Amino acid sequence: MNSVKIYICFAALLFAYTQAATPVSPPAPIILTPTPAPAPAPDYVNLTDLLSVAGPFSTFLKYLQQTKVIETLQNQANNTDEGITLFVPKDKAFANLKKPSLSNLTADQLKQLCLFHALPHYYSLSDFKNLSGSGPVNTLAGGSYTLNFTDSMGTVHIGSGWTNTEVSSSVHSTDPVAIYQVNKVLLPEAIFGTDIPPPAPAPAPVPDIAPVADAPDADGKGSGPGARSTSPSSSNRIMGLSMSRCLMMVVVSAGFVALL
Ligand SMILES: *[C@@H]1O[C@H](CO)[C@@H](O)[C@H](O)[C@H]1NC(C)=O
Ligand SMILES: *[C@@H]1O[C@H](CO)[C@@H](O)[C@H](O)[C@H]1NC(C)=O
Ligand SMILES: *[C@@H]1O[C@H](CO)[C@@H](O)[C@H](O)[C@H]1NC(C)=O
Ligand SMILES: *[C@@H]1O[C@H](CO)[C@@H](O)[C@H](O)[C@H]1NC(C)=O
Ligand SMILES: *[C@@H]1O[C@H](CO)[C@@H](O)[C@H](O)[C@H]1NC(C)=O
Repeated sequence: MNSVKIYICFAALLFAYTQAATPVSPPAPIILTPTPAPAPAPDYVNLTDLLSVAGPFSTFLKYLQQTKVIETLQNQANNTDEGITLFVPKDKAFANLKKPSLSNLTADQLKQLCLFHALPHYYSLSDFKNLSGSGPVNTLAGGSYTLNFTDSMGTVHIGSGWTNTEVSSSVHSTDPVAIYQVNKVLLPEAIFGTDIPPPAPAPAPVPDIAPVADAPDADGKGSGPGARSTSPSSSNRIMGLSMSRCLMMVVVSAGFVALL
């Protein structure tokens, strides 16, 4: 019986040793490094470069270069106080454009159409919540060349009268330059008039998307990490007899180890 107690005491001592020894790891050396100066943000974005690698946006870029609007846009992008927000239709959007066509626009109208795709201010996607329902927003084309924005659950819808589309992806959005892809060419009433034909019937009815109900919390309750406990009491709850002496030794030795 005595040998059993000695074994248990030995085991408890071992336990105490490991418990006390593990936290005594050498403290991480404190190295005083000078805080590096934050790298200056790259202010200059070359729009031509950016539009030629993304997309494909080659049709829009061709119009921007042909009308020299690219220079106006680059100048606006260089203006870090205001910045620019540019809506860029993909090549497919120009290919799909049947009526009205851009083919017999005057040079000036084409220029205005290009400027109509830009806002003279940087807007992140979340900023459009503010513009939503705020009324017509001025574009770089000025005058009555305005766009309406509505934000529905994070999707930015753009309305020009002739065109109803949405931001389909963000190509670049770092203040001061935001470039968003749109699936349609934005057609202004100021060029094409207000005699807008009613929208063609949708090719196929889009089925209503059922609202996705929040999935019930799969996590069971009351099984948090606190439920498990590796208390050291497991080593001394086997026997109550003369454990107090052993415990004293454990405490003393643990303290001794901690001192080392
Ligand atoms: C912008 O990129 C285009 C195409 O790479 C290049 O021709 C032009 O010189 C660049 N502009 C500036 C100001 O660096
Ligand atoms: C924009 O800024 C770049 C870099 O500072 C400069 O090379 C370019 O000429 C500027 N372009 C315009 C149109 O202001
Ligand atoms: C464009 O030209 C077509 C004929 O090629 C003509 O029917 C149409 O009215 C013209 N559109 C405009 C806006 O001038
Ligand atoms: C959006 O609106 C809020 C309150 O109406 C305003 O505090 C915030 O500055 C606005 N943000 C922008 C980007 O206009
Ligand atoms: C934009 O919204 C205003 C109301 O805020 C409306 O009167 C106008 O017709 C809209 N314009 C277009 C082009 O949808």
